[in-house]
Amino acid sequence: MDRNHVWHHLVNHKPFEENDPMMIVKGEGVRVWDAKGNEYLDAVSGAVWTVNVGYGRTEIADAVRDQLVTMNYFAQSAGNIPAAKFAQKLIEKMPGMSRVYYSNSGSEANEKAFKIVRQIAHKKFGGKKTKILYRERDYHGTTIATLSASGQEERRTQYGPFVPDFVAVPHCCEYRAQEGADLENYGVWAANQIEKVILEEGPDTVGALCLEPITAGGGIIEAPEGYWPRVQEICKQYDVLLHIDEVVCGLGRTGKWFGYQHYGIQPDIVTMAKGVASGYAAISCTVTTEEVFEAFKDDSDPRLGYFRDISTFGGCTAGPTAALVNMQIIEDEALLENVTHQGEYLRGCLNQLMEKYDVIGDVRGKGLFAGFELVKDRNTKEPVDETLPAAIAAHCMANGVIVGRTNRSFATLNNNICLSPPLIATRNDIDAIVQALDNALSDLT
Ligand SMILES: Cc1ncc(COP(=O)(O)O)c(C=O)c1O
Repeated sequence: MDRNHVWHHLVNHKPFEENDPMMIVKGEGVRVWDAKGNEYLDAVSGAVWTVNVGYGRTEIADAVRDQLVTMNYFAQSAGNIPAAKFAQKLIEKMPGMSRVYYSNSGSEANEKAFKIVRQIAHKKFGGKKTKILYRERDYHGTTIATLSASGQEERRTQYGPFVPDFVAVPHCCEYRAQEGADLENYGVWAANQIEKVILEEGPDTVGALCLEPITAGGGIIEAPEGYWPRVQEICKQYDVLLHIDEVVCGLGRTGKWFGYQHYGIQPDIVTMAKGVASGYAAISCTVTTEEVFEAFKDDSDPRLGYFRDISTFGGCTAGPTAALVNMQIIEDEALLENVTHQGEYLRGCLNQLMEKYDVIGDVRGKGLFAGFELVKDRNTKEPVDETLPAAIAAHCMANGVIVGRTNRSFATLNNNICLSPPLIATRNDIDAIVQALDNALSDLT
């Protein structure tokens, strides 16, 4: 049935004519099983860093079931109890933020943010300030507008033309610093490149800057010291809204509730999805400050004086119900602390692998969010061909561990192995992941 009728995401179906696709049929803790009975340690939380609290959480399923039989759906133009409770609990963890707008996916949450920025441009700035800046190597989603805001050229191939007024700013990957960059003070230098773009475009045309707190699919890239305070300063100076895309880092992945909270900044808009309910229900949130929300409380024009957006399934109660229990689990089981602790251990293990294998050029990450770059030569940093990370991932899978890799995102930089196990991962789980990578690197390099 699957082979005949299901169109898989990101999959070339040609090989399926000979091979059965993998069917995942069961999950428990950090493990999943396929239809043939093979067991895997899932080191990427559902392949795309989503299942933060792990598989088989009956407490989430029970709460969702109870809510659905009471009240499953009503459009979010009205309120419902789990949406109100989750919004309050979420805002408690986000000082300075105030309002939660519900939708269903990371892409959609980002689209809402873009629409908020565009509408503010019309309401407050006479139709100027419509430009939204995004960073090379960041990804913000799969729709045409969010792809227009994504700095990964391979993902964009064959989907143009794109939406106007999305403008790229230079990446901030110290390991691959741009020619002429100030290597002593790379964070500040990279932030200053954003200012240059704002000045080139004209500050009165730029409405927002959209950034991942740590670039995820683009290669697990954390900006070095100095970057974020300067970014905040630039946004304030030019009246540019700071939109942080926490779709991957949100809800504990890096050891804090949100990635941006490591850097002492105050965003205007924060978007989140994947880990919000750990994949137990579809939910995403666009969270804003009260100031952004206030811009829409306008009774001067009854036709245009509010955010004229709706998302049908933003009114499903399953999402916020699952999200509430998900958050409670993170608190009750002290998972933020576990992430910090196990994350440090994981980084140490990956650094040891780097000492052993010259093919590893750089180890990066924060919390249970880590990865490394594979290079042909440490001096030239020439990336390996994408076939090597693909072979490493296949080797690990054959040995019962699922790891991730940058997958056709760039012309040449598809050379990263990525790890993001569920936040409940133990030291034994980390050891098993590292052992699988060690075996693969030993056999294949
Ligand atoms: C940083 C980031 N933003 C947005 C998205 C899009 O989320 P979704 O696939 O839920 O639309 C992703 C998906 O991987 C992501 O990594």
